[in-house]
Amino acid sequence: MRIGVTGKGGSGKTTVAATAARVFARRGMRVNALDGDPNPNLARALGIPDGDLERLRPVPQDAVLRERTGEGAEKQLELTRPVEDLISEYGAVGPEGVRTLTMTGLLGAGRGCICGQHATVRGFVAELGTARPEEITILDTEASIEHLSRGTVRHVDTLLVVVEPYFRSLETLGRIAPMARDLGIPQVAAVANKVRSEDDERVIRDYAESIGVDVIAVIPFDAAVEDADRGNTSLLDHRPGSPAVAAVERLVDELMDRAGQRVAVASSG
Ligand SMILES: Nc1ncnc2c1ncn2[C@@H]1O[C@H](COP(=O)(O)OP(=O)(O)O)[C@@H](O)[C@H]1O
Ligand SMILES: [Mg+2]
Repeated sequence: MRIGVTGKGGSGKTTVAATAARVFARRGMRVNALDGDPNPNLARALGIPDGDLERLRPVPQDAVLRERTGEGAEKQLELTRPVEDLISEYGAVGPEGVRTLTMTGLLGAGRGCICGQHATVRGFVAELGTARPEEITILDTEASIEHLSRGTVRHVDTLLVVVEPYFRSLETLGRIAPMARDLGIPQVAAVANKVRSEDDERVIRDYAESIGVDVIAVIPFDAAVEDADRGNTSLLDHRPGSPAVAAVERLVDELMDRAGQRVAVASSG
């Protein structure tokens, strides 16, 4: 299963991606956590210690993917080396064995376009799905709709859009959902985050329903998330029993249930 996490800046994408990655691993899955944000911080949110953080280097496009001509004239990318090699050269293995790679790096001011990086991420996610369908791959993204417009998230099976209960955040969901459908992503669902009241939840549910998007999880506003950030630790290490962690655990269970049902339908059909 390949899961992309999108949404407006500050909505909670990295918190959800990192916590869900570790919860999937605790459920016994092999997990790849990919940071697709040019200003990466997924590894920190995963709780990877400082010494290992220094080992992380952006995966360079040329070193890992080569072009092959696919069906039709469309050029496709394929991996040149096993994922394990990439992890040991560029990545880090975090708590619960979550394998982490930084897919985009800071280019520095004025150092040009990151379209090659988008293509690398797109090809890499496609390859992981083909070669390793039983693994969970979670792609954290930057706060921009470029991941949709450039098709970076084209090959995920599920796109989670993290939303907060205010209009500009919901508007972002309204822009992302149709683009995701146009890309042919099978499942697009909203994750309501920082929910403080029933009214907050209702605002998100009403908006999502009006555009035909399902709310797959509701994560409460939880001071433990901010405390963890402030202390530069991961939420799961800081407060494993917190309400936000419990909500992400329910999200993971729901994703696994739905994936199981899809497999069952496919094999009976
Ligand atoms: N459920 C929550 N309750 C309280 N604060 C949260 C919650 N989720 C995220 N935050 C806070 O919101 C900020 C942005 O979270 P982050 O996961 O980095 O978002 P993004 O990756 O979308 O930019 C951080 O300060 C984080 O601590
Ligand atoms: Mg982030």
